[in-house]
Amino acid sequence: MASGNKSIFRTKSIEAMLSESGKGLKKVLGAFELTMLGIGAIIGTGIFVLTGVAAADYAGPALVLSFVFSGIACSFAALCYAELAAMIPVAGSAYTFGYVGLGEIWAWIIGWDLILEYMVAVAAVAVGWSGYIVTLLKAGGITVPAALCNPPGQNGGIVNLPSIIILGIIMLFLIKGVSESTKLNNILVLIKLAVVILFIVVGVGHVNPANWHPFFPYGVNGVFTGASIIFFAYVGFDAVATAAEEVKNPQRDLPIGIIASLLVCTVLYIIVSAILTGMVPYQQYHNNAAPVAYALQQVGINWGSALVSVGAVCGISSVLLVMTFGSTRILFSLSRDGLLPTVFSEVHPKFGTPVKSTVLVGVITMALSGFLQIGRLAEMTNIGTLAAFCVVSASVIVLRKKRPDVKRPFSCPGVPITPAIAIVFCLYLIYKLPHFTQGVFVVWVSIGFVIYFIYGKSHSIMNFEEQK
Ligand code: ALA
Repeated sequence: MASGNKSIFRTKSIEAMLSESGKGLKKVLGAFELTMLGIGAIIGTGIFVLTGVAAADYAGPALVLSFVFSGIACSFAALCYAELAAMIPVAGSAYTFGYVGLGEIWAWIIGWDLILEYMVAVAAVAVGWSGYIVTLLKAGGITVPAALCNPPGQNGGIVNLPSIIILGIIMLFLIKGVSESTKLNNILVLIKLAVVILFIVVGVGHVNPANWHPFFPYGVNGVFTGASIIFFAYVGFDAVATAAEEVKNPQRDLPIGIIASLLVCTVLYIIVSAILTGMVPYQQYHNNAAPVAYALQQVGINWGSALVSVGAVCGISSVLLVMTFGSTRILFSLSRDGLLPTVFSEVHPKFGTPVKSTVLVGVITMALSGFLQIGRLAEMTNIGTLAAFCVVSASVIVLRKKRPDVKRPFSCPGVPITPAIAIVFCLYLIYKLPHFTQGVFVVWVSIGFVIYFIYGKSHSIMNFEEQK
């Protein structure tokens, strides 16, 4: 028994997971709310900011193909998420699926990886928020000095103050227990969608096909590098799975929420990127923090530009709230399972929230967003998410073999080909990311292994559960 108990590949049983799940949580979400939640977490800095960077520096007008490629990679991964989320509707998402399918060490590494993904995503999204608020303030006659709204090494910056301020506000909200209410989220998502659709309707009449030539200024290679950058825009549909325990009919609604939110965003992204590169020569988006508003301004639609900025600020705020909440929730899950110290799952007696982990996440994300460039942050998010997609896809294959008996309300079509394609696409995108990003990721994962062997392995609650 001893060797089995101590195995780093010990797995949690699906039955045990399901019996623990959803205790005390209200089941209020349906397919519509889940789709809105997904869109709430997906549409943000990626489309409102990074499209400009990716068009100018990596893909040119072929950016639209980058969106198609990343969209395909995400669709295959989404089908895998849908199968597992419906089969094991337990909060924790990829971490939980890894624990059931591949074993504790993989679950831990993916949980550790998700912490990185969510925290750097929050920081990157906050930088995007800062870009739009600075543009808005400028339109209102208030100019924020470049030194105070840029990180060191960019446009003479010292610190990105607006992004630190918004993260401080989000942190205080979350400490006080203001969790994302679906009503507020629905409103923010509707504003976001309205703004994106407004851009499409207004922008399409100002497309000059000459701007699409040359279509491949950076070659076909640029399309894939661009895809590895704008993959960021798709990050978020996985957050739907973390709401699993609050869903009325998870078996039916989770797959709908995951797939529908991704589908809506993919279609919008492809149209927006085509229009964006058609309105203004792609070179003009270099170092531009608010490309969607900029494009409208360039064609003389200033009212549209201001509206887009307001919508972007609202929409990006919802991503910040959901993602910050998500990172504290993952810290919480790892800590509750004994893989991190219990301090991270302590709940404040008055506020009823995990104050210490919220402050920790708040301070780290503020430091990251204040001093790093958005491109770097987005790349780190992407590598973390891509790794999570690989684990989820592998879990689908493994669980089909290990647990064919468990009911699958949603069956990913074409297993093992579909998950295998998801893994290949995701590994290819990881390969296309800059070496620096890959290096930081390897260091992060190595630190994770060290922490597991020094702390997690001996403190895991599995040690105690198995001895019963
Ligand atoms: N997909 C999210 C965004 O674009 C993270 O902001």
